[in-house]
Parts: sequence; C-alpha cells; structure tokens
Amino acid sequence: MSKLDYLRWLGVDALWLSPIYPSPMADFGYDISNFTDVHPLFGTLEDLDTLVRQAHQRDLKLILDFVPNHTSDEHPWFQQARQSRTNEKRDWYIWRDPAPDGGPANNWTSNFGGSAWQFDAQSGQYYLHLFDVKQPDLNWRNHEVRRAMFDVMRFWLDRGVDGFRVDVPGALLKDEQFRDNPLNPDWKAGDRPYTRQLSLYTEDQPGIHEIVREMRAVVDHYGERVLIGEIWPPMERMVQYYGEQLDEVHLPFNLQLVLRPTWEARTIRQIVDEYEGALPRGAWPNWVLSNHDRPRVATRLGREQARMAQMLFLTLRGTPTCYYGDEVGMQNVAISPELMQDPEGKENAQYSRDPERTPMQWESSPNAGFCPAGVRPWLPVADDFQTYNVAVEQHDPRSFLTLVRTLLTLRRALPALSMGSQQSIDQPNPTCFVYQRQHADEHCLVALNFSAQDQVVTLPEQGQGRLLLSTHLDREGPLPLSEVHLRGNEGLLIEFETHPPHV
Ligand code: NOJ
Repeated sequence: MSKLDYLRWLGVDALWLSPIYPSPMADFGYDISNFTDVHPLFGTLEDLDTLVRQAHQRDLKLILDFVPNHTSDEHPWFQQARQSRTNEKRDWYIWRDPAPDGGPANNWTSNFGGSAWQFDAQSGQYYLHLFDVKQPDLNWRNHEVRRAMFDVMRFWLDRGVDGFRVDVPGALLKDEQFRDNPLNPDWKAGDRPYTRQLSLYTEDQPGIHEIVREMRAVVDHYGERVLIGEIWPPMERMVQYYGEQLDEVHLPFNLQLVLRPTWEARTIRQIVDEYEGALPRGAWPNWVLSNHDRPRVATRLGREQARMAQMLFLTLRGTPTCYYGDEVGMQNVAISPELMQDPEGKENAQYSRDPERTPMQWESSPNAGFCPAGVRPWLPVADDFQTYNVAVEQHDPRSFLTLVRTLLTLRRALPALSMGSQQSIDQPNPTCFVYQRQHADEHCLVALNFSAQDQVVTLPEQGQGRLLLSTHLDREGPLPLSEVHLRGNEGLLIEFETHPPHV
C-alpha cells in the first residue's frame, strides 16, 4: 500500500498482482486452495479492499491474476473429487483409467517436466496436471465448473478490481479423445523438456474461443474493465485471442521480446513489423520485456543494452507491461539448490524461475527494504542491491530508474508515442533499428543501436530534428536528421519539427 505513490511517481497506470489467494505455495501461489480469499501472508480481504480504494484514489487500476486452468490439490473441490469416482465433484477434474500396462492413459507431459498424469491410489485413476502434481486441471467441459469460475471473476469485480490477467487460457480445453501429442521435430537436447512435444491436443482446442468470449462477457458487464491473456507464441495463435469481433481478451500478452533468443536489430524489426501486420483491425497492441517466468531483461542483454531495450519497449505502439524491478535494472540472482522454491527449478535447475523472482530492491538497508531486517525472505536479495535500488536511483539523474521514468513521462506527454502510428524505417546500418511514431503532425523518431560500438544512421531526409532523450541521459537539443550518430548501446528519441522522413 505504501508503494502506490511510488508507482504514480514512476508513471504507472495499472498494477497487476500475481496470485494473492490462499495457497500451499507449491507454485508461488498459482496453486490456489481458495479463489475468493486472500492468503494471510499478504493480508486480508479487507486489506485488498483498501488497496483497491487507495489505488483508485491515485488513479491507478488494480488487476488480479485469474488462474482458471487448475486448482491446488488442497482445494476443497479436489479434496471432494478424489474421495470416490461417484463424488459430485469428480467430473470437475480430469480423470482417466490406467492404460493396460498400468501407466498413464497418454503421453501428455507437464510443463514442469515428467508425465502430466498422477495416479490416485484411493480411486484407482489418474488425474491430469499440466503443471505441478499439486495443480490438478479443472474440467472446463463441465458447465458447473464454468459457472463456478465465472462466479469467482464476479466476486472480485464486485469488489472493484479493474480486471484480470488470465493464466494460460489456451489450455482450458483438452482433446476429447485424449490423443497423444506428437513429438516436436525441432526439439534439441538442452531445450525445455516440455517443448519436446507439440501441444496439439492440450492447447487451443475447438471451443476454447467460446469460453474466452464468455469470460469477456462477464467482464464487460462491469463496464470499463480489462482482460489480459497469457498466450504464448506463435504470433498467429496469439492474435486469435483478440477474438474475431474483438470480443475475447483485450490484450493477449505479446511475449515475443521475452522469448525470441536473438537480440539483433534485424530480428527485432521483423518482430515489430510482423506483429503490426498480424493485428486484427482495431486491436490494440501490447509488449512485454520480462516476466516472472523468464530471465530478466538486464540479465539477458546486460544493463547497457537493457537501457536501450527500455527505450524500445516504452516507445513501441501499444501497452507495455513492466516486470517489477526491471525499472531499476534488477538482474537475476543465482539461487543455490537448497534455497530453490520453484517446482520447475526443482525438476530442472537450469530452468528455475527463482532467479528472476527475488525481492524488490527498494533501498540500501538490510533486505533492500523488502521485509524487516532479521526476517529471511523466501529468496535472497541481489548482492548489488545497494547500487541498484529505488532510493539510490531516484537521486541519480542518469540512473536506470530516471531513464524509465523519463520515458514514461514523454510517453504520456506526446500523443505520437501514446497513440500514434508505428512505421519501421529502412536504413543501411544493420546494427540499428529505426522507426517513426506519428500522430497528426507530431512525428517522433526512435533510433536504437544494438551494438556496443558507435554507429551512424542515415535517413532519407535532410531536415532538422530535436533530440528529446538519449538513453545515456546526457544530451538533448537540435539534431540534423540526415546522419544521426549513436554511441554504443545508445537509443535516441527525436522529435521532428518540420521535415518528417519519407517512409
Ligand atoms: C503461467 C504462470 O505465468 C506461471 O508462473 C505458472 O507457473 C503457470 N502458469 C501455472 O499456473
């Protein structure tokens, strides 16, 4: 609650909380044992109400994580369902008899590794868990399940939350015939075990869009609320979740900058152009640079390139979703095996998501101000927290945080950035990506150097521009457009006063 003013100061419009519900914490709260309460670790329902109120007083929206695909195995629904094959809640989950050899009914694998089926000795059947064994999948073919989960959404909407980030909506329906998933011909040793199979029969099944439309109808009933969907690439798949009539999620998360391994000007331009081209008419774009499931951007690219990446992220057309701590340049923290919390990490240490989930770095005091000194947080604080934290960076005119805040301020001030068109600009230097944002007669040019060396960008136009911001935060003012000089890792935001380049 005490940090809401910081978020406003930074320029944030909406806050998304990862799951806050009662949970045995087998998967950082994504294993929920009660969908309509708050885990005592985080407070009470009344605290949540106060948070919503205080956020709204500051013009901040509050978005919750809605996890419809599974419950915890400690949820009363599952406790009941596993009692017997005839229990009235049995069909709320997905059960199969053993195969003739006693093994699971098919080859489906869990996202965290191993079979997606767990044998339940008491009832002699297997239950399905596409994630951890403690996260049994709900059966969305059962209409009582749908009704119960839509009621969960209403419970929170009635309390005033502004919408949901929906966890893996594409996985809600599974193949009715439970066919084996085919092997992925492109999988190679070292890739995530889960990607060894193609999710042909466990994702995007016929009927899924109807369910997402129903979710949207629940939310629309409350007026100005938002639905964000966690939809993984490929791009063609992602954009389908806008809905044919733009009647599914408002924002299917665009995770391409998080997932594409090659960070080079050409590839990023290609992603931007393909995405802009694939968006259905009227759909609003969005970008994600880091999240709680993949290494932080400042680790993937290094802090120098990460500054430039923030300029890309915050000047592309669409809504950006920033992962906490990225704004101060937080990096992954190496976690020793005995401190590991993440079920995926326990299965495969190299894929642990703990390194990107360490405590927020607020200040230089012990535990970085995340929790009182003397209390041990779940995961250790980064060694460099005394250099990279909010309190220190707020007073440094060239800090990572100052850069992010300035970008957010400019974004708000310039309609070209907040709502203008997006157009990539050809130029001969392959290490740089240049694009234009335009609204009415306001033109902004963004030039990004993906290399650590100085570069020159030549543009077809001879006009004069005005440099609004360098990611080095050390220069601004008039700038000739015909030949723009960039230092290593530098990004520039330039406003055109007279002669926009031809594109
Ligand atoms: C996606 C979430 O982002 C991830 O953190 C979680 O482990 C799985 N869904 C299961 O809920």
